[in-house]
Amino acid sequence: MSDRSFVLTRRRLLTGAAGVAGVAAAPNLLGERIFAPAIAQNAPLKVGLMLPYSGTYAKLGQFIDDGFKLYVEQKGGKLGGRDIVFVQVDDESKPEAATDNMNRLVGREKADVVIGTVHSGVAMAMVKVARDTKTLMIIPNAGANDATGPACAPNIFRTSFSNWQSTYPMGKVMADAGIKTVATITWRYTAGAEMIGAFAENFIKNGGKVVEDLTVPFPEVEFQALITRIATLKPDAVFSFFAGGGAVKFVKDYAAAGLNKTIPLYGAGFLTDGTIAAQGEAANGIKTTLHYADNLDNPANLAFLKAFKAKTSNDGDIYAVQGYDAAALLDIGLASVGGDAAAKDKMIAAMGAAKIDSPRGPLSFNKAHNPIQNIYLREVKNGRNELVKIAQEAVDDPARGCKMT
Ligand code: PHB
Repeated sequence: MSDRSFVLTRRRLLTGAAGVAGVAAAPNLLGERIFAPAIAQNAPLKVGLMLPYSGTYAKLGQFIDDGFKLYVEQKGGKLGGRDIVFVQVDDESKPEAATDNMNRLVGREKADVVIGTVHSGVAMAMVKVARDTKTLMIIPNAGANDATGPACAPNIFRTSFSNWQSTYPMGKVMADAGIKTVATITWRYTAGAEMIGAFAENFIKNGGKVVEDLTVPFPEVEFQALITRIATLKPDAVFSFFAGGGAVKFVKDYAAAGLNKTIPLYGAGFLTDGTIAAQGEAANGIKTTLHYADNLDNPANLAFLKAFKAKTSNDGDIYAVQGYDAAALLDIGLASVGGDAAAKDKMIAAMGAAKIDSPRGPLSFNKAHNPIQNIYLREVKNGRNELVKIAQEAVDDPARGCKMT
């Protein structure tokens, strides 16, 4: 085949591929029909959503899903000008099933990008597959420090937080409030250990003392014995991490035991985000740190909350915001390459340099692809996580152990 005929054939294939997904046929100059796959940019981009749609984190997964899809809808069903289709997997927050689930998405389902997930243990199994297969992955919640630490990679981004980042500022806030002794309580897995660890690091640095670390296995909700132990220890305050269904139960049990009247409850913001309606009166007065507050008075948040309510009839929360911003980040990447996700290096560079006007406030990314963002101190009042103040501005995770290759 001459150079000229090759060019012509290529051009016809490109034209043909616009109308037909899958296989396009065009005659070359010799009249033969040449079959070739459709040019990738013209087929819809396949987004794999690997999230918990059942179990204690089910509502969190659904809100991430809703937030992501809200953004795509606002862009007319496209990101970076490219049509989007979805394939979904319920990861059930089970680390033991995570590798198979992720392999199914990138293997059999041929997802171009994977968005997931909520649970740190599941996310780390996904990160390993994403690294091995070089699949673009955006984490819309799980805070596992290692994902943007030793396991960091160019193709892995996070639009949520590192576990370190969400609770480190609270150590100083509580010490500054005159609290000298704290008992901690959480689920016994990566997220709990890392969030409690970061809080303790800063609390001790500022003169505080952790008197006891209490844990239950994930996702158990038998808190009674530990609540009795807290009553015996009588610390100045309690610092906790629970989320989803488990957080609802813990906050209610703590109040039912009357401890909310005598030993103030603090936590990572997940304790009361997306859970506050179900907790009711029991949540009143709880102070937490997070990269969001319900009443952040910026135009992006006001517009987001209104649109989310119109789409889902629900009040938006941090999980919905993280899903929404994952779509915004992918939009920026795809727009930079005219929708051609095969131009990965260019796309990754654009995503790494992204500055997003997020409902949470300004959002940018460090060299490990973890968000740089404000961490807010909030207090539950009238059924809302109300802003008290910025606990620490533009918090950047230290990305310990991250070497981008
Ligand atoms: C986590 O496992 O990293 C995790 C889960 C739920 C949250 C926050 C972090 O709300």
